[in-house]
Amino acid sequence: MGKTYNIAIDGPAGAGKSTIAKKVAEKLNFIYVDTGAMYRAMALYFIRQGINRENEKEVEEACGQIEITISYENHSQQVILNGENVSELIRREEVGNMASAVSVYKSVRDKLLLLQRDLAAKENVIMDGRDIGTWVLPWADTKIYLTAGSKVRAERRYKELEEKGISCNIEEIEKDIIERDRRDMTREIAPLRQADDAVLVDASHMTIEEVADRIMEIAADHGLEVKKA
Ligand code: DC
Repeated sequence: MGKTYNIAIDGPAGAGKSTIAKKVAEKLNFIYVDTGAMYRAMALYFIRQGINRENEKEVEEACGQIEITISYENHSQQVILNGENVSELIRREEVGNMASAVSVYKSVRDKLLLLQRDLAAKENVIMDGRDIGTWVLPWADTKIYLTAGSKVRAERRYKELEEKGISCNIEEIEKDIIERDRRDMTREIAPLRQADDAVLVDASHMTIEEVADRIMEIAADHGLEVKKA
């Protein structure tokens, strides 16, 4: 098997990473790997078990009871938590906040690292998260740091949740986003930051299509042969 081509996309919550990564994966016929979903699945387990997120020991012990696997249905990533498909359940804001809180712990991060590296070694992937370019796949062929202003990101999250019929408050969402950014960027282990060799893309004033095209362009600059349709 030849070497796989890996694209890493990191950035703060709500910058549009998953929407863009899905689109680029489709265009390139790559596998899209959503690492946030893996952290969310672990968070869902902790919520269900009533684990105190401030208690590292408790979280660490619970990690031993968790098995996360990934499968694909029609190119869409499914996250399996101890045999149960939790792909829909993990989208709630409460789960995202718990994921951010517990992802500061080494036991939680170590649990997912090999799974993520293994996927990237086997397939051409576009993988999104917070530490993909800096820690999970420092050897990635193309690295993108995708960001947007916190107001724009809050508006997008609000619309997304509204469309799903989940009632929410936009000020609360922006507050949560700012708090999540702070925690993700200041944690000790694998904090969110732009890798030295990552290309910055600010999507505040760009359409999804424009961002996807920009990423394809960057990947082409980094040796990917992109066939024109
Ligand atoms: O991208 P998301 O909102 O689904 O991620 C949820 C949380 O999981 C995020 O706030 C921090 C954590 N996370 C992480 O620490 N490292 C990753 N590679 C992906 C997510």
